[in-house]
Amino acid sequence: MGGLLVSGAPATADAVLLFELAVGLLLILGMLVVRGGHIRLHMYIQGSMILVNIPVVLVWMVPEYLRYVVPGLPGALAQSVYWVPTLMLAAGAVAEALGIYILLVAGTTLLPERWRFRNYKAWMRTELILWWAVLLTGVATYYLWYAPS
Ligand code: HEM
Repeated sequence: MGGLLVSGAPATADAVLLFELAVGLLLILGMLVVRGGHIRLHMYIQGSMILVNIPVVLVWMVPEYLRYVVPGLPGALAQSVYWVPTLMLAAGAVAEALGIYILLVAGTTLLPERWRFRNYKAWMRTELILWWAVLLTGVATYYLWYAPS
């Protein structure tokens, strides 16, 4: 399967890229679903996407980052092959943390009232936009790392 999108890309990189694109598209489907009034289905789609992303980041992205990016830091940070994945990991951590916070507020009663937001649309639209921004830095990282320069 290696090199599905860019010849020479490892098969796992292809699989992770396709997986993340699917997660991003399903989050948009989840948004369309809640506009149709299907809140429970929305909760299941959004909730599972936020959670299923965690093992993929920890098992694939973090080890790749530690192996190929960290050795070049901070000296090589000005190069896009270093700063783009660094931006992805930093913004991705924020998007994941915000996603988990949204799930705790909108899907549980675990948090005290003073920590709960009321404007669902504003918080969740921000999360969806941030998630897609991170996804696009992931696509950029894939092409920066594997596309023949
Ligand atoms: C337990 C999980 C969740 C529940 C119960 C939930 C519930 C809701 C509800 C009730 C609305 C309608 C708000 C309104 O019309 O004022 C909404 C809107 C929305 N939700 Fe969620 N949500 C959850 C998680 C998420 C997550 C994690 C995301 C993003 C990744 C998300 C994305 C959105 C978006 C983009 C909208 C706005 C839809 C629009 O433009 O009208 N939701 N959600």
